[in-house]
Amino acid sequence: MGGMKHPILIHPDPRLKKVCAEVPDLSDELRVLADDMLETMYDAPGIGLAAPQIGIMERLIVLDCVREDEGDPRPLVMFNPRIVASSDEQNVYEEGCLSIPDQYAEVTRPKLVQVEWMDRNGTAQSEEFDGLWATCVQHEIDHLDGKLFIDYLKPLKRQMITRKMQKLKRERARA
Ligand code: NI
Repeated sequence: MGGMKHPILIHPDPRLKKVCAEVPDLSDELRVLADDMLETMYDAPGIGLAAPQIGIMERLIVLDCVREDEGDPRPLVMFNPRIVASSDEQNVYEEGCLSIPDQYAEVTRPKLVQVEWMDRNGTAQSEEFDGLWATCVQHEIDHLDGKLFIDYLKPLKRQMITRKMQKLKRERARA
């Protein structure tokens, strides 16, 4: 793959609160960016990453929810991903985020989602996701709309996590 790692933005950051722009046309530059994002995600390690998390305000996400002991990796690159249907049935997962390190909380989301996107070759794709894949793809698409998993939590819990992240950023800036 051979992508280049990018630093991941840590919450709170105004770039993590913005709505990202549609990608009008694929370019080699965007394909390189997608490879870089996969490299950054695997290295973290994480199971999903959205472009705004590295300061790129475009509708691009990458994910791979195959566990190491489960088999071959399945890196997915999605340009302009869109949820076109979701199940009434809900699922609860303990979520985390590479922009909110070491903080986890249970979030309820639809169990199944149908997603349409453009792949790295510019081909339109559509697939139904279930379980962890469904949670992950919803979490990443939220990033493109400036939404974080902590936005689903009660205000007190969200403020507590935000204060921890502010402290972490101060510590990192000093180091
Ligand atoms: Ni995230």
